[in-house]
Parts: sequence; C-alpha cells; structure tokens
Amino acid sequence: MAERPAEPRGPVHVDGEVVATKRVGGYRHLTLTAPGVPERFRAGSFVAVTVEGHVARRALWIHRVRASSAFGPTLDVVVDVRGSGTAWLAAQPVGTKVAVTGPLGRPFALPKEAVSCLLVGEGYAAAPLFPLAERLRERGCAVSLVVSAPDEAHLLSALEARRSVRSVTVLTADGSVGQRGTAADHLDDLVRRSRADVVYAAGPTDVLRSAASAAEQVGAWSQVAVEVPTPCGTGLCHGCPLPVVGEDGVDRVVRACAEGPVVRGDRVRWDAL
Ligand code: FES
Repeated sequence: MAERPAEPRGPVHVDGEVVATKRVGGYRHLTLTAPGVPERFRAGSFVAVTVEGHVARRALWIHRVRASSAFGPTLDVVVDVRGSGTAWLAAQPVGTKVAVTGPLGRPFALPKEAVSCLLVGEGYAAAPLFPLAERLRERGCAVSLVVSAPDEAHLLSALEARRSVRSVTVLTADGSVGQRGTAADHLDDLVRRSRADVVYAAGPTDVLRSAASAAEQVGAWSQVAVEVPTPCGTGLCHGCPLPVVGEDGVDRVVRACAEGPVVRGDRVRWDAL
C-alpha cells in the first residue's frame, strides 16, 4: 500500500518577504511569504520575526493563511506598534526581506464534537480567533465571537468573521461602536447566554482571566492564548515564564512560547502573573 506523505510538522526558519502591507485602523497588517510556515499553521500558533537593530525577535499572531496567491502560500500578521521594534516592522515596504521562524507554540485545541464555542478577543490579540472560528465551523461547532477594544480604531475587523460565526458581539470601552464596556464587564453574561461548552480567549491578562472564570462558573472548558514577552519564541532562553498548576496539581512555571501560548484557563495561576 502506498504511504501517505507525512504532514509537515515543527517550525521552520526561513527567509520571508513582505508582499503586501496596509493600515487597518490603529494596526498595520502585513502579508508575508515564509516558505513552509503557512502549510504548518494551526490556529493559535505564532511566528517570531527578526527586527533590525534588536537581538530579541518580535512574536506575532498569525491572523490568516492563504494556501495560494500570486506569491504562493502567504500568511497575514497584525502589528500593533508598541516600541521601536514593532515600529520598524510596521514601516517596512513591500519587498522587504524578513527572517521568520514558525509556526511556534501550542495552538488552540479543537473539540472532537460539534459543540458550542464562544471566542473572546481583545484588540490585535483577537487575530488568531478568526482562523480558529473557521476551523470550528468546519467541525460543525456553533461559534459566537466577541471582539473588544478600547475604541473603534483598535477593534480587529469583526465584519469578515460574520460568515464563519453564528453571532458577533462588538464591545468598545469608549462606546464608539457596538456596546459600551470591556470584555470583563460583559463576559459572565455572554458566556451564560451563549451556552458555550468551550470558551476560547485571546488578549490581555484581565480578559483571559475573566474568560477563564466565566467559563468555570458554568462548567465550560476554557482555552486562553497568553501574551507574555517571548524574547526567542523557540523555547531556548527561558525568558517567558508562565505560572501554572500542572496535571498533578503541583504549581510550576512553564515556558509560554513552548508549553503555551495556548493553555487551559483553569491551569493558569493568574495571581502569580
Ligand atoms: S521566549 Fe525564549 S524560551 Fe520562551
């Protein structure tokens, strides 16, 4: 019997190129070629990109992959300018060569059955939830999405998700679009009303913590994509400590980039973060 070709696994370190760049609200979206990375992508994984003048690389959520385009397979990342490294990255024109390692980290775990899922994302960190919504829909899951941000400019486009999800709730802290308030304000209610079996969350710690606790209250599972600085992104430097409770009930510290970034919400020691 002929052997099936093995699926590509593990990260690769490759020379990529910026093939498109556009400003979307307060963010810069970059489309990159990175041979081998789109083929290995799983929702929740990320890439580490070398940035001129910096030893540490920048970790970026993968927002979308395209299996084919005029440039071959590509991936989209969302850059939020927070310092000189991300400012450099956001300013690069089409044609810039960039060194990319990825996909890195543990992705979101997908349910085996068609269950009800609530996805909660704040700001640019909502990026990995969009491909996750598509994977869940392919499995027949009922998907509700909540996207939140301080204001409209920092809301990652929820419109494009509408075809993959049952409902979209938009929250802005300043009330500029959607309902006024933060994810933390609304999550208990949203989780209860969605009757979610699984809550997936991506964003700052307070959002993840609220999502994990709201899920726990209704007996749902939670999967959270943590964001701690990841200087190497590959598990080598141990510079990304994440305090968790292990399967054995013992407190320990794991590497967010290798044992995460996606972990069970009920495993994170939120007070120690
Ligand atoms: S960032 Fe270096 S080990 Fe995680």
